[in-house]
Amino acid sequence: MSFRIQPPAPARPNRCQLFGPGSRTALFEKMAASAADVINLDLEDSVAPGDKASARANIIAASHDVNWGNKHLSVRINGLDTPWWYRDVVDLLEQGSERIDQIMIPKVGCAADVYAVDALVTAVEAAMGRKKRISLEVIIESAAGIAHVEEIAASSPRLQAMSLGAADFAASMGMATTGIGGTQEHYYMLHEGAKYWPDPWHWAQAAIVAACRTHGVLPVDGPFGDFSDDEGFRAQARRSATLGMVGKWAIHPKQVALANEVFTPSAAAVAEAREILAAMEAAKARGEGATVYKGRLVDIASIKQAEGIVRQADLTAS
Ligand code: COA
Ligand code: MG
Repeated sequence: MSFRIQPPAPARPNRCQLFGPGSRTALFEKMAASAADVINLDLEDSVAPGDKASARANIIAASHDVNWGNKHLSVRINGLDTPWWYRDVVDLLEQGSERIDQIMIPKVGCAADVYAVDALVTAVEAAMGRKKRISLEVIIESAAGIAHVEEIAASSPRLQAMSLGAADFAASMGMATTGIGGTQEHYYMLHEGAKYWPDPWHWAQAAIVAACRTHGVLPVDGPFGDFSDDEGFRAQARRSATLGMVGKWAIHPKQVALANEVFTPSAAAVAEAREILAAMEAAKARGEGATVYKGRLVDIASIKQAEGIVRQADLTAS
């Protein structure tokens, strides 16, 4: 380990972030009753320009009136290149209830974007005497965002989570794709005449995970647009989990159970992790740093991997 110790990410479940437009108040109670760990009420791209002010008022009212239970309640504000974002922050924190946990900043391109929101949040919080310190989350969904991903991950002690937004990311990168995430038909390798399809999101995800793990932030996979394709969602989510991400967005309620399924360690995985920890305890008692478990080498690194699985299982046990 480096002399600089890797900080832990916030210890809260973030398996699924369920989105809903701030303009569709009929969805709010359903979102609150869902099995998602995080609720994202949206003021940005799912809300038409003419509805921005009323959506803001809807979310403020819902922060007082809806019982959000133990969910982490986050509001996605408008981007910093719009005329709406400052009023989103000011009105939410002046008029919204203390139930609001987090503000999500879309299309972040550099650490200064987060700094600007942090400064405004800090001033309004102090002026209003708010007791709960608002946390922040960001979406990496542009070329600038991925180019500056590490400085963004390090940008503020308020920052708790970072998501990859595949659709805007693809557009900003000039990728010849349509759809939101998943397998891309023309991104294939040929081997002896047979095609197979690598993952075009892999490097961006891995860069986000590395930046997040360096700075104690939760890495999250964003939306999967085709909500009629459960297996496509599962495949994307399993790749994200394998790379170190802790959760995924749901843009339709049927995706919540899929995300929870993938990002909750299975009973078999937890049992195996506990067995590895027990095998290593026994090895340590014999004065050995490595041992054999089911015909495989396990050593100190295996303990850390197994502990990660047990920790995620403990966080999500309820
Ligand atoms: N959260 C909770 N419940 C939702 C929901 C959501 N985001 N979206 C739909 N529902 C409810 C519907 O009200 C309906 O409930 P009912 O059975 O009680 O009538 C049920 O789930 C089935 O909905 P369905 O008819 O399949 O969807 P829809 O046509 O009403 O809405 C979308 C589909 C995609 C427009 C909608 O899910 C949505 O707005 N998603 C979020 C979009 C968003 O926030 N995007 C920004 C981030 S990318
Ligand atoms: Mg977007």
